[in-house]
Amino acid sequence: MPYLLAIESSCDDTSAAVIGDGAVLSNVIAGQDIHRAYGGVVPEAASRAHFESIIPVVDAALQRANVRKKQLDAIAFTRGPGLLGSLMVGVSFAKALALALGIPIIDVHHLQAHVLAHFAEEPKPSFPFLCLTVSGGHTQIVLVRSPLEMEVLGKTLDDAAGEAFDKAGRMMGLPYPAGPEIDQLSQNGIARFAFPEPKIRGLDFSFSGLKTAIRYFLRDETAKNPDFIRENLPDIAASVQDTIVRILMSKLKRAAKETGISEIAIAGGVAANSGLRQALLREGEKRNWKVYIPRIEYCTDNAAMIGMAGYYKFLAGEFAPQDIAPVARWEMG
Ligand code: KG4
Ligand code: ZN
Repeated sequence: MPYLLAIESSCDDTSAAVIGDGAVLSNVIAGQDIHRAYGGVVPEAASRAHFESIIPVVDAALQRANVRKKQLDAIAFTRGPGLLGSLMVGVSFAKALALALGIPIIDVHHLQAHVLAHFAEEPKPSFPFLCLTVSGGHTQIVLVRSPLEMEVLGKTLDDAAGEAFDKAGRMMGLPYPAGPEIDQLSQNGIARFAFPEPKIRGLDFSFSGLKTAIRYFLRDETAKNPDFIRENLPDIAASVQDTIVRILMSKLKRAAKETGISEIAIAGGVAANSGLRQALLREGEKRNWKVYIPRIEYCTDNAAMIGMAGYYKFLAGEFAPQDIAPVARWEMG
């Protein structure tokens, strides 16, 4: 059976996974706490941290899978999109190890991989399905015809959904990444503050208006009561989360209606959000959708999803040349 090693290093998580015959045998993820102090990802620090983690993370993934380097048939890696200095570490490592072992390499598109995270375990969606991919860098609705045939139906015109969470959190004084903190705080809050939803035609998204609305709202309320944020943190968090989830769900409902597709999946870091997960389950029940929500480990950045995407390219015989370079920006489809 084919064994693949997969490597992910596009942003601030160093991850390695081993895939055996299309099944995930291990998935090791090393996060980078260093960015918390800066309130966002510092590219230079991220690249250095990847460099320090990559060998131990790969070793741990092989060990956990009980697979030796010599048994590997190919190495898959994230080629982009992402931070160039971060991608460079994973790409160079994959190329060097593959060259030493005399095996082929497979380049993977990070966003295609987020979608294919759904194939890391059961139940798997059937084709065609819609996937709302929501992460720190991207927000898009994808029509998935097969593992390697995807069409982007709509995407964000400005900020990504995760960025909206992170920027709102920053204004509220929360550490980076603020998405999980806002999610947590929302559990004890009531969405009683209203923020406007953008009026964008079609299936595209926009989050910059929301960011501005939150900024002015917090500025005005703090002028009246300097302790406003501290005293109302859970309610502010719940209101922000509720608005972002409503914006996402309204476009997803529209995409389902327009395409007539009722197999609906979510992916990416923001798919870990409990408000979005609940909203999708609720809507799914109401509209008779079959919904697919990955386990949290497969929502945020991980190499298992890179391995799944790599596995399908392996089966299709799609390998990359040894002189391939990472790409920071890369349109999908
Ligand atoms: O997919 P991901 O790990 O990395 C990128 O490719 O961007 O997504 C990271 C994003 C961050 O913006 C983070 O705040 C957000 O996902 N995130 C969440 C939650 N967990 C992670 N946002 C809302 N609720 C969560 N529970
Ligand atoms: Zn991602």
